[in-house]
Amino acid sequence: MKKTAVITGITGQDGSYLCEQLLEKGYEVHGVIRRSSTFNTARIDHLYTRTEDPNPKIHLHYIDTLDSLHLLSLFERIAPDEIYNLAALSHVAQSFDQPEYSAETAGLGLLKILEIVKTLKLDTKIYQASTSELFGSTPPPQSEDSKFLPQSPYAVAKLFAHNIARVYRDAYGIFISTGILFNHESPRRSRTFVTRKISTAVSEILRGERDSLELGNLHAKRDWGYAPEYTDAMWRILQLNNPVDLVIATGTQYSVGDFCNFAFSHVNLDWEKYVISSDKFMRPLEVESLQGDSSLAASTIDWKPKVLAPELAKIMVDADCIVTSYRY
Ligand code: NAP
Ligand code: GDD
Repeated sequence: MKKTAVITGITGQDGSYLCEQLLEKGYEVHGVIRRSSTFNTARIDHLYTRTEDPNPKIHLHYIDTLDSLHLLSLFERIAPDEIYNLAALSHVAQSFDQPEYSAETAGLGLLKILEIVKTLKLDTKIYQASTSELFGSTPPPQSEDSKFLPQSPYAVAKLFAHNIARVYRDAYGIFISTGILFNHESPRRSRTFVTRKISTAVSEILRGERDSLELGNLHAKRDWGYAPEYTDAMWRILQLNNPVDLVIATGTQYSVGDFCNFAFSHVNLDWEKYVISSDKFMRPLEVESLQGDSSLAASTIDWKPKVLAPELAKIMVDADCIVTSYRY
């Protein structure tokens, strides 16, 4: 039997990779997409056509995830086997400027889905996009047993969602799993995140379009992995017979300055000649050091990372140098 999946946030980096992977596995994929005055489908344009297609590969539904009435009507109509809840304001720095909206999308968004699944008595497996930001100021290595000390409105909202997932699992027997994913990047990453900001700057410097790059904190350390491997982990998590909370990470750690070095040196440039650290991009509160321990994922879902930050930087720079039209 063909499985049916709903992806909220299908137009984002992770949603687009996950959609491709589910289609390859033969799923019927339904994407929740919000209305925008400009096209916001660049990452999934290759997967669907805007013209009438009698056999569309994916089905897109215009619903803001804060609009629970329309989510309910969609879930009632298609009774999905799996829901992947990826929609959120996902930019940590921006969450300080839009704290209420962050709480609504990253926090309450999941509660609405859980209430609908409970009310409709659906036998649906739900995946929630939890995050390493939950650990905040807890020193590395961070695992499923580490303390959550969130440092931003985004992370606090995600912690609400993480906890409400556990409550609905225990109280109502709803099948909800969470992936506590560490940073994962790709050529489809939005340009406002640091790795993509760096890789696009490298390509623009090479083309002579600019001669410097302004960043914020160069000393923050992250555990960076490759996004398609992380969306594969999401699917694996939902194939288990019981719900889990799993850390997904490479176990390696590099600073923002290190990532600059990987990206610039790939095209024989010295990053220190181009990169400037500016207060403009500093955050009111910073998460200084993330490095995950995903040994539980290795044993339960047989997941191991392949691409690490030095290679990831090369993949992203190469993509930006070749395809100048990626403007996410
Ligand atoms: P992303 O590229 O920013 O994508 C976010 C998606 O959510 C976009 O499709 C966006 O739509 C959609 N969205 C936001 N608000 C919405 C709303 N009110 N209604 C409907 N759709 C809405 O993020 P990502 O990197 O793919 O991450 C996916 C999820 O994983 C997010 O929840 C993020 O917080 C979480 N996460 C990401 C990472 C990471 O390193 N990438 C790590 C841990 C957790 P538009 O395209 O219209 O903006
Ligand atoms: N965005 C950005 N822009 N970050 C910068 C800059 C800059 O100019 N300069 C330095 N940084 C630093 C940030 O202060 C942070 O310490 C680090 O680079 C990474 O920032 P982001 O790439 O914006 O990612 P993030 O770690 O804050 O959040 C991402 O990963 C989380 C998982 O840990 C997002 O994808 C979140 O949605 C996700 O939950």
